[in-house]
Amino acid sequence: MATVRKTARAERADGSGRRDRAVLVTGGAGFVGSHVCVALIEAGWRPVVLDNLCNSDADAMERIAAVTGVAPQLVTGDVRDGELLARVLRSQPCVAVLHLAGLKSVAASMEDPEVFDAVNAGGTRALLAALRGFDPAHDAGVRAVVFSSSATVYDASHAVRLTEDAPLRPANPYGRSKLAAETALRAYQAEQPARSVAILRYFNAAGAHPGGRLGERARGEPQNLLPLVAEVAAGLRPRLRVHGGDYPTEDGTAVRDYVHVMDLAQAHLAALQHALRRPSLDVFNLGSGQGASVLQVVRAFAAASGRPIAYEIGPRRPGDVAAYLADGARSRDVLGWQATRGLDVVCADAWRWQCALRG
Ligand code: WQD
Repeated sequence: MATVRKTARAERADGSGRRDRAVLVTGGAGFVGSHVCVALIEAGWRPVVLDNLCNSDADAMERIAAVTGVAPQLVTGDVRDGELLARVLRSQPCVAVLHLAGLKSVAASMEDPEVFDAVNAGGTRALLAALRGFDPAHDAGVRAVVFSSSATVYDASHAVRLTEDAPLRPANPYGRSKLAAETALRAYQAEQPARSVAILRYFNAAGAHPGGRLGERARGEPQNLLPLVAEVAAGLRPRLRVHGGDYPTEDGTAVRDYVHVMDLAQAHLAALQHALRRPSLDVFNLGSGQGASVLQVVRAFAAASGRPIAYEIGPRRPGDVAAYLADGARSRDVLGWQATRGLDVVCADAWRWQCALRG
């Protein structure tokens, strides 16, 4: 039975706790989700978080409060629980849902493809089934869904710089689960044309809030490059294993588009406002547009931390591709959003967070 954990919520003086500013954030205790909650609160929204805490901690609410002064209400539960979703949507008059709850490790999806499909695609279908119970014509109801999708839905062999109309051919189960979720969202918006759907295809989210109080804190072993490099810099792990040194790139290591999580959070705000302005179905690439190889990240982190980063080059990781970056023209022209922070800031903020984690 899911629990609804009431967290003391300081009403903001400007009354932005008003009922019509509530948004449901699934996965709001996670890395990107918690930073999205900060951006929402600072823009006067009232996030209500639903999270099963499988890859996050409830104290993310306190960390959000440390930055904003407001601790969002946390409902502990699973996005696949349609009854719980309907209860939360009925109890909280949310005007939108930011659906970020999901599993995100490309490597882990190779091991458990069914789990990724059940959570990422099945969870999205459960949310949409719950939303169908509300008719926007008869109540304020949820008018928009903003969805956390992924650049891994693309055919990364098509081109290095990808636009939103690039061919879709995921190379791994994670990408396939996200594409299945997108398909369900498109069908939902087609049958509910008075509602909006904004699909956000993240490239590589990285970095941390600059205050050193909020950042990536996965449960167990980190999977992503930046937190692993940060642990090497902190002396918590002897060296980084570079997955592949024989890719057709400048230094043979794989290239990705690292986008600061604070920039990513701002993009969610822009997408929410865009989706509420008028009924629409849109897709946006969210990246910095700048590529960095694994070794370039290692060098940037060494410069930001002042620490040596030992590494060894090993075999390629199954499911990985050589290089892909965002063509951000559509996000810039339609959302008015583009990344403002570079790899140096990503590394500096990630290092500050790593130091804060160790206390
Ligand atoms: C980055 C690069 C690795 C660890 C991520 C997210 C995924 C999606 C796409 C949003 C790769 C290399 C890594 C290590 C390494 N984002 N690497 N040694 O696989 O690009 O996927 O972005 O949907 O959710 O996880 O990110 O950080 O795992 O890897 O050499 O120990 O670093 O091979 O080239 P990836 P990553």
